[in-house]
Order: sequence, then structure tokens, then C-alpha cells
Amino acid sequence: MRILSGIQPTGRFHWGNYFGAIRQYIELQGERENAFYFIANLHALTTVRNRQTLLQNTLDAALDFLALGLDPNRATLFVQSDVPEVSELCWLLTTGAPMGLLERCHAYKDKKAKGLSADAGLFNYPVLMAADILAYDSDIVPVGEDQVQHIEVARDLAGSFNHEFGETLVLPKAKLLDASARVPGVDGEKMSKSYGNTLDIFEEPKSLRKQIMRIVTDSRPMDQPKEPGTDPLFQLYSLFAADDACEAMAEKYRRGGFGYGEVKKALADASVDYFAEARARRVEFAAHEDRVREILGDGAAVARKKAAEVLRRAQQACGVWQ
Ligand code: ADP
Ligand code: TRP
Repeated sequence: MRILSGIQPTGRFHWGNYFGAIRQYIELQGERENAFYFIANLHALTTVRNRQTLLQNTLDAALDFLALGLDPNRATLFVQSDVPEVSELCWLLTTGAPMGLLERCHAYKDKKAKGLSADAGLFNYPVLMAADILAYDSDIVPVGEDQVQHIEVARDLAGSFNHEFGETLVLPKAKLLDASARVPGVDGEKMSKSYGNTLDIFEEPKSLRKQIMRIVTDSRPMDQPKEPGTDPLFQLYSLFAADDACEAMAEKYRRGGFGYGEVKKALADASVDYFAEARARRVEFAAHEDRVREILGDGAAVARKKAAEVLRRAQQACGVWQ
């Protein structure tokens, strides 16, 4: 059984990416052959249009994954574009992809609805994503809710390919990542790069503390009791603090008579501690970039072997190979 997922290197990873996705990928690793994770630089190219930025983001994403605990002996980590077979499979799938299906996909649809002009890369994005999944005979694809539609597209495209050319591609299933892990940003809305409200995993502790101090809180007087469950600051604290510390903090909220500054300080301390080990590992990996490139190279070799096998099967099925 193969688990596969990808994440776009569009900027520094934030707490939302960690608790909503990366941590869960890492928990799901097991056997090298069975857990494939890749850095989706070809997808990022639809938005990141600067060579140096894309190269740097891709390397940063690899460093972040490794620092956060992705173990190259228990998972295969690679860069999407290092497996050119995927782009070829993408074409085979594109030839049978209904326009209507792609027009309904939200990334394209939302952009059009805003009256913005979209390019063919964005339109085709779900087909490339289908190729990413199908190229490795993936069974399970852990993703956030926003990506479930794309897994359906992958299933549809695989189903119709099989229908036209005979059983060739494995139909994948989405595994919805824990939705309760929806992490709020400094403004209380969902944390997202596009809202500019992120707290980044590897932000320098000093600057992180400053950003934490800016988290929005309500203006009720200090001594009034407050409900912890609905407070974004408390939600963030509970991601990092141990159960008993969390319970003690919740109690303080309910009693009232505390300042939010105190909670912010506790959050800053807890989050800096939480990522301290990962931060040290990242420094170590960053100092050995050649080792990181070797890991990505090894990962690509494992992934390519599988993708070449699936591509050949698909080529034979549709008649572009003997
Ligand atoms: P962003 O919104 O910052 O551009 P992405 O869309 O690249 O983030 O998200 C990559 C992964 O991280 C996805 O699987 C997504 O579900 C998860 N993720 C992003 N933001 C959050 C959040 N605030 N809470 C939980 N998960 C998140
Ligand atoms: N589109 C996904 C995202 O933006 C990233 C991605 C690309 C992906 N290819 C994939 C995720 C294949 C899962 C499987 O989050």
C-alpha cells in the first residue's frame, strides 16, 4: 500500500502547514517504498515566476521536511521535476481530460470568477496532480479539504483511461487530514501565506516573539472570565503545550484576572521549545547541503523506477509504445 502526498514550495512553511499537513505526513511514514512525499515545484511554477526564488524554496522545503523528522530510511523524499515520467503521463491523461471537468476545478474557477485571466498551467494543474498520484500506483493520498476535489479528478481520469484502454492505473483514495488541525493566524483567520498572517516554523525566535505579541485578542477587561475554546491565542497555545499546562491555562481563562500578554509569552516559550530540536537539526542539514541533495537524488531514483514502470504500462495500453 502506497501513501503519497506533495506540498508546493511557494514560501516558508508555517504552523498551519506543520500541524495541518507535515506533522501528519511524518507520522504516516513507515517503509521507504510505501511513503512517497515530494516537493511540487512544477505546481509552484504556476505562481512562483523567479528562478532563484523557486530554487531556494525547493531546497528550503527539503531542509524543513528533514529537520522536522522526515526520515529518508522510512519515506522517499523527492522533487517533483526530478521525475520527468510524470510530465509524460500528464500528457497521456490530458488527451482524455474533459474540459468541463477542469473548468469546475476550484483554483481555475475561482480565478475566473474574480475576472482574472488564468493560464493553461493553472487550468491543467489538476491533470498534473493526477499524474503525480497515478505515476506511483498510489493508494492513499493524505490532503487537506481543499485538495479533495483534485483526488476525485485523479480517480475520474484513471477510471476513464482504464475504461478506454483496459485496467492500467490504480484508483487512489483521499485521506482527509485532521480538520481540527485548522490553525488560526495572527488575525484569527485561517493561517495562510495568501492572507499574510502566518507564524513560520523556522522564524528566528526573537522575531517570532514580536509577531506573537501582535496576535489579535479581544478588549474585554482583564478580570472578566473568558472562554478558552473560541480564542485563537488559546488554540495556538494548545498546539504546543502539554495537556496539564493546557488545562491550567484553560482554567485561568475561565477564572479571569489574567492578561493576554502573559498568554502570548507562554505561547512564545512553548513554541520556541517545541521546535528547538528541529531548528538545531535544520542548521545541521543546512551546513551539509550535499547530503540533502544526495537524499533528494536517492529519493528521485526510487520514485523514477516506479514511475517508469507505470508510464510504460500506460504507453503500451494506449498505443504509443509497442
Ligand atoms: P497556504 O494556504 O499558506 O498557501 P498551502 O495551501 O500551501 O498553504 O497548504 C499546504 C498544506 O498545509 C495543505 O495540506 C493544507 O491543508 C495545510 N494547511 C495550510 N494552512 C493550514 C491551516 N491554517 N491549518 C491547517 N492546515 C493548513
Ligand atoms: N496541489 C497540492 C497543494 O497545493 C500539492 C500537490 C501537487 C499534491 N501534487 C500532489 C498533493 C499530489 C497530493 C498529491 O497542496
